[in-house]
Amino acid sequence: MAAENRVHAAAAAPPTSGPAAEGMTRRQLLRSSMFATIGAMFGLAAAGGGGMFWPIKLSGFGGIVPAPVKAHEMQVGDVVTVRDGKYYLTRSEDGLMALYWKCVHLGCTVPWNAAAGKFMCPCHASVYDITGQNIAGPAPRPLDMMEITVEPDGTVLVNTGKITERVRHEPEHAVKI
Ligand code: FES
Repeated sequence: MAAENRVHAAAAAPPTSGPAAEGMTRRQLLRSSMFATIGAMFGLAAAGGGGMFWPIKLSGFGGIVPAPVKAHEMQVGDVVTVRDGKYYLTRSEDGLMALYWKCVHLGCTVPWNAAAGKFMCPCHASVYDITGQNIAGPAPRPLDMMEITVEPDGTVLVNTGKITERVRHEPEHAVKI
């Protein structure tokens, strides 16, 4: 009877080696990989979701690009090229504007011609005045404008990610200074 009990006990004890023991290890391994995979999926989801709230661009074109001059330093007729932001800061009788330098005809960069006092596109001869209003050539509308904020100390912040199309120039498009 005692020998019978010993055999029973031996049969109930967990195997420490052999195929059964390997089976346990495989199960544990599978469970660990499953948890690791789930963890990785949550990590990726969190990273992806976090990206929605992270600002895509903080500086350079697409972000805020300050003008290199203060608002009160700009005289009527002045045009300042801001390459980082791909815009011209202009001062007309209407006020300050940040004009996107991309021609609205087919996208060439439009240079300011200081002698003529106009923006003159070299590609198909569109011409714009200092407010961006198209006055000659095939351009169908004025140059697009970017949002401007003038700080109390005169710093001009241009949001190059906020570009507005317009049908024609209106005085209220400019920021009064
Ligand atoms: S791209 Fe400027 S006129 Fe055609």
